[in-house]
Order: sequence, then structure tokens, then C-alpha cells
Amino acid sequence: MRRPAAEPGPSFRFRRMTAADLDRVAEIERAGFAHPWSRELLARELGQAWSHVLIAVEEDEKGERVLGYVVFWLVHDEVHVLNLGTALEARRRGVGRALMEEAHATGRRRGASVATLEVRRSNLPALALYRDLGYRQVGIRPNYYAEEREDAIVMVLDL
Ligand SMILES: CC(C)(COP(=O)(O)OP(=O)(O)OC[C@H]1O[C@@H](n2cnc3c(N)ncnc32)[C@H](O)[C@@H]1OP(=O)(O)O)[C@@H](O)C(=O)NCCC(=O)NCCS
Repeated sequence: MRRPAAEPGPSFRFRRMTAADLDRVAEIERAGFAHPWSRELLARELGQAWSHVLIAVEEDEKGERVLGYVVFWLVHDEVHVLNLGTALEARRRGVGRALMEEAHATGRRRGASVATLEVRRSNLPALALYRDLGYRQVGIRPNYYAEEREDAIVMVLDL
């Protein structure tokens, strides 16, 4: 009898960001955002007890490659997602979704009951992802992104 083909699972795994990853994460950030976080800003997160930066990595014959990252703060019962990015060449492979789910799972393990975030009104890919994950819109912060006078949509997910 033939065995059914194995389900192709995601080819990446997660780990905490370290100082050695900063250049690559800053590079993904520059490629993905009009107003990227600087290397220094990312480095500062490594020194905060409440901050978590998870990266998704893929191994191949050349070694390990960082595909994306999520930055979140875990304070009391809340996961607050500050940043999420997937390398251009790794988009639409489920990396962003998996990083968010990993952030939620980390929060749940540590007693968080809610996840919150702000997203630009014009960021349709991110809005689609968050809605798909179950986030609901709970408010708007007018002109939150001051340079473009763009509103932030405030979203919440019960964990
Ligand atoms: C938003 C972002 C992180 C998504 O990452 P990704 O790894 O490509 O996302 P995934 O492959 O996990 O997509 C999951 C779902 O999100 C939605 N989605 C993602 N990209 C989308 C796009 N370009 N258009 C519409 N929906 C999109 C879809 O529902 C998708 O599910 P599907 O592929 O089964 O249709 C990525 O586009 C990115 O880095 N953008 C620039 C940085 C950014 O805006 N970050 C968010 C700041 S709040």
C-alpha cells in the first residue's frame, strides 16, 4: 500500500532575535517600510525585559536566513504588537501569520488574555492579515502617523 505523501509543513522555525541578527532585521525593515525602525531602535528592544523580538528563520545549504520578525511587548495581561515584517522575497508564504500566532502563543503561556496593535489605515495587506487572525477594530487614532497625517486603526484580539 502506498503511504500518503507527507503534508509539506512550513520550512521555517522561530527563535529570539539576538544582536547578531540586527543588520539583517534592519535590512528587511528598510525594504518594507517608508519609515523603517533604525538598527539602534531595534537594538534597544533587546535591552527591555518586557520586549520580545521573534524571528522566523529558514535553513538551507548556505546556512540560516532570516525571513521575518515580530516585535511585541508583554505587559500584565496584554501582548502589544509594535512591529511585524516579512522579507520581500518571503511574502505570502505564511511567515507573517505564523509570527503573529507565535507571539499570541507566547503571550498566552505567560498569562496574557488580549493582544492589541495599531496599523495604518492604508496598510491593506496588514489589515487583511490581522482581520484574518480575528482582530477587531476598536478605535481610530486620528493623524497618529504625523508625517503623512494618517490615521491608525486600533485593533484587539482576545487570546
Ligand atoms: C504585512 C506583512 C507582514 C504580511 O506578511 P506575509 O508573511 O506576506 O503574510 P502571510 O503570508 O502570513 O499572509 C497571511 C494573510 O495575510 C493577508 N495578506 C498578506 N499579504 C497580503 C496582501 N499583499 N494583500 C492582501 N492580503 C494579504 C492574506 O489574508 C494572507 O493569507 P493568504 O496568503 O492565505 O491569502 C508583509 O506584507 C510586510 O512585511 N509588509 C510591510 C511591513 C508592514 O506593513 N508590517 C505591518 C505593520 S502594522
